[in-house]
Amino acid sequence: MGSVGETEKVPTTIDRVRLDAFQLVTMSALPGALAALARLNIFEALAKAGDDAQLTAAELAERALPGKSINMSYLSRLLRMVSGKNILREVVTTTGDKNGAPVAVERRYALEPIARFLVDDPERGSFVHLLLTYQSPGAFLQTWEHLHESVLDDAIQPFARAHGMNAWEFGKHNPQFDKVFNKAMAGNSKIYMRAILDAYHGFEDVKVVVDVGGGFAAALSLITARYPHIKGINFDQPHVIDVCPELPGVEHVSGNMFESVPSGGDAIFMKYILHDWDDESCLKILKNCYQALPAHGKVIAVDNMLPEIIDFEGGDPMALQVDIHMLAFNDSGARERTERELVKLGLAAGFNKVKVVCKVDLLAVTEFHKA
Ligand SMILES: C[S@@+](CC[C@H](N)C(=O)[O-])C[C@H]1O[C@@H](n2cnc3c(N)ncnc32)[C@H](O)[C@@H]1O
Repeated sequence: MGSVGETEKVPTTIDRVRLDAFQLVTMSALPGALAALARLNIFEALAKAGDDAQLTAAELAERALPGKSINMSYLSRLLRMVSGKNILREVVTTTGDKNGAPVAVERRYALEPIARFLVDDPERGSFVHLLLTYQSPGAFLQTWEHLHESVLDDAIQPFARAHGMNAWEFGKHNPQFDKVFNKAMAGNSKIYMRAILDAYHGFEDVKVVVDVGGGFAAALSLITARYPHIKGINFDQPHVIDVCPELPGVEHVSGNMFESVPSGGDAIFMKYILHDWDDESCLKILKNCYQALPAHGKVIAVDNMLPEIIDFEGGDPMALQVDIHMLAFNDSGARERTERELVKLGLAAGFNKVKVVCKVDLLAVTEFHKA
């Protein structure tokens, strides 16, 4: 009879393409399992236990969910599943009887580097709130079922079909969702802005920067921390600014970027703004930026950039995946763009020179110069 650790190798045939196809159709288990573990505070419990911590499911349950009644079998299955994706590391110890036959298996779990991005860390940033936003049952999850309808009828936008209003209106009416969404944006900004500020040096000669659609000013607070000589103006919708925490070196201004954006900055920063809108709306926003800037001012836009040609080596095809999130979750013509499309928009808005200055992962930093 076989036992753990002694199982004989049995003849196995694998058809990689067939297996990959099966993987495709069962893939929804992954974000579902990750969101469940995040809601159960498992990633924080592991992070708090220390860098080298390896905890059993029972130890994790005790730390993450003290006093709660736990279905240990379910928790273990979730932990094993994400370990199979190299998100947690499963460390197995088998203990044998005196004849050396294994009798017990102990499984411990540790954070793989990728899981650090799922730990809720207000200082370092995190992708966990973005995960929970995408997996939000009352908001984004319902939009997928309308994706194909939007292909068949261009009057149908998935988010509006599901909720009867666009995502920004939805946020106004659902403060709880809006809070998670803004946390998601801030968590993402904290991670990416540090990397952008390492790679991009175009803020060095800027005195005042206006962050249009700055949300909770996560990006702006990192810009002003890196460049203390810069004054920051955080501009967003009134219901966002109303709940935005005060930050040193940052003035909050509320308004509507389709009407005007605050003047007084020699640079306007926009991260994840143009990708929220169709070309016509982007033109309005860019023209309002043009109006607000002095003669030598510039817009610094950060968005995921679509590849002109799919290149599997460079990692760029992932932007095509992010683009479908924009399609499903926003009803305002939201889309990622190629460099060529961004340049065309910038020139049409009146800018003299538009150039991509650097890229960080999928994000391109594009400057739009008036002069
Ligand atoms: C995708 S979020 C990006 C937030 C932030 N820039 C970041 O990267 O974390 C888009 C932002 O645009 C803001 N926004 C949407 N419509 C707006 C409008 N008409 N005027 C000003 N801001 C607006 C939203 O409130 C939200 O904060």
